[in-house]
Amino acid sequence: MRLSTRQLLCADRGDYGRQAFSWLGFSIMNPWQANFWSTEINCVDDEHDRLHEMLAALSFVILNSTNQTLSLEALGVMRNRFNEHCKFEESIAVGSGLGMEDILQHDHAELLSLLEDARIGFCNSDISAARAAVERFTQDLMRHDEVVDLPLFRLISSSGVALAL
Ligand SMILES: [Fe+2]
Ligand SMILES: [Fe+2]
Repeated sequence: MRLSTRQLLCADRGDYGRQAFSWLGFSIMNPWQANFWSTEINCVDDEHDRLHEMLAALSFVILNSTNQTLSLEALGVMRNRFNEHCKFEESIAVGSGLGMEDILQHDHAELLSLLEDARIGFCNSDISAARAAVERFTQDLMRHDEVVDLPLFRLISSSGVALAL
């Protein structure tokens, strides 16, 4: 099957995109799939859209650049940006008063630990270990979006609590 570039970048659930980019020797994150992944809280959806766009670009650099310094810098930007995202989501979860922030914080910490593994890999010049940690991060993040963020924020949205956004 031959796929257009748009299909590669925007394929539903990313299966075709991931496979095709894998065949080409590199991987990429999914763009945020607003139709399928809406949390029903607009600012959270907008934040995910921006986050995925940035992480896709950064992960592309990290996974494909032969310049280790550049990869490490991109990884630092990725870590800072994702850390901000985690704080943003956790503040909403805490503010909802539903007492469900623990699972969010736990999963975020696991994801951040993968980026720390990647940093250690680059610092030790173990490029394949560093890249494997980033690949795992991108895949685990998509799982996190689907099985943690979506149900949690939909629950917060449907609970009708007033959020201080
Ligand atoms: Fe999250
Ligand atoms: Fe998220």
